[in-house]
Amino acid sequence: METTAKFIFDGKTFEMPIITGSEGEKAIDISKLRQETGFITYDPGFANTGACLSNITFMNGEKGILRYRGIPVEQLAEHSSFVETAYLLINGELPVRTQLQSFSVLLNDHSLVHEDMRHFFNNFPRRAHPMGILSSMVNALRAFYPEIPERSEEEEINMTVTRLLSKVRTMAAISYKISRGHKVVYPKQELSYAANFLNMMFDSPVRPYEIDPDLVKALNVFWILHADHEQNCSTAAVRLVGSARVNLYAAISAGICALWGPLHGGANQAVIEMLEAIQANGGDVNPFIARAKHKDDPFRLMGFGHRVYKTYDPRAKIMKEQCYKILEKLKIHDPLLDIAMKLEEAALKDSYFIDHYLYPNLDFYTGIVLRAIGIPLNMFTVMFAIGRLPGWISQWKESMEDPHWKLHRPRQVYTGLNQRDYIPIDQRG
Ligand code: SDX
Repeated sequence: METTAKFIFDGKTFEMPIITGSEGEKAIDISKLRQETGFITYDPGFANTGACLSNITFMNGEKGILRYRGIPVEQLAEHSSFVETAYLLINGELPVRTQLQSFSVLLNDHSLVHEDMRHFFNNFPRRAHPMGILSSMVNALRAFYPEIPERSEEEEINMTVTRLLSKVRTMAAISYKISRGHKVVYPKQELSYAANFLNMMFDSPVRPYEIDPDLVKALNVFWILHADHEQNCSTAAVRLVGSARVNLYAAISAGICALWGPLHGGANQAVIEMLEAIQANGGDVNPFIARAKHKDDPFRLMGFGHRVYKTYDPRAKIMKEQCYKILEKLKIHDPLLDIAMKLEEAALKDSYFIDHYLYPNLDFYTGIVLRAIGIPLNMFTVMFAIGRLPGWISQWKESMEDPHWKLHRPRQVYTGLNQRDYIPIDQRG
């Protein structure tokens, strides 16, 4: 089998090594291309460019496969918990019982947020978007939890990882309570990671929150499905910002900002807004399908399409099942689920969506589950961020430990004006 690729130009032949991944994926190693040929490559959106070698997550977009450290996401969603999956992603192996117990205790021990941070939370405008608050406050964590010189780099990283995994969940709940003018609820030692979050969100002095194990399970499944997704936009942002060797809090804050975008993590909120617009339009999905197909209309079906998946997103399948389970358990009928199903059915029969390989992605059904749990719409992407934390952290750690890692600094093809002289202002115009 060929181990090199040949680049022939102007009568010269340049050979470049071929890299073959453990699942048979092939890449041309162009790391010496410019040095040997004077050429660079051009690949808008990096759709054809591998930024790294990674052992963490495998996706096959054509077959709809997703595995974390080799384990299919379907098995993790069925059997694992979010904390256990976070351990798997960050450490590479499932924890034995004692490891899982001490990891859970560690997360609980660090679940409180520095009381002085409350001044910041209290002074954001009440209607500030929670993603803007979260990215600001995660970046502020370095100020409130400065590096301890006596700690080794490994101890410092492990402490930062623990704080992020545990405190981001608490910060999300704090920001929600303050936005409602409600009393902030503290984490409880006896509650699990997901149950603690629900309790911090919904417990009240006048109406104690009753933990429903089915909602806790649904939230674990939700976060497991969001936990990692190889080199998506926000993970690429974490790796790029991290490549400048900035602290992990700042790199994660950059990931949160990238995730906020409606084409990425912000899509889960945009899906619900689209379904509500269809509902307000009498439930007729066809005008929205027509707009999505119209080349001059910027409208896109939110929750549809994916850069990698050219078939049904395996996570969307699981989330769709979760919708039925949770709505049945809570005895809720959500008309938006009916609209979502109608929209999916109409789109998947339409040649435009078939020809463009546009299927429901992770964000299409997640909003229905979050609504059933009681999460407010403007916090949907915050829920995605909490889930994606283990992925961002594991990818950042892998990049920091990569002996071939370099500062991320892409090239460009300049298409601007050639050299010209400065013109004094009185000779312009
Ligand atoms: C996430 O990368 C990840 O892994 C992300 C994620 C993760 O876990 O991290 O999976 C999470 O971000 C899921 C995606 C959520 N975003 C949305 O649901 C927003 C709607 N979807 C799109 O905008 C779009 O599908 C993207 C951004 C997700 C992917 O688009 P690409 O790969 O950049 O492709 P493109 O924008 O170049 O579109 C290719 C064609 C175009 O038509 P043509 O000009 O070629 O005729 O497909 C069309 C697009 O107009 N198209 C859509 C469409 N998505 C693509 N047309 C209508 N509706 C859509 N949703």
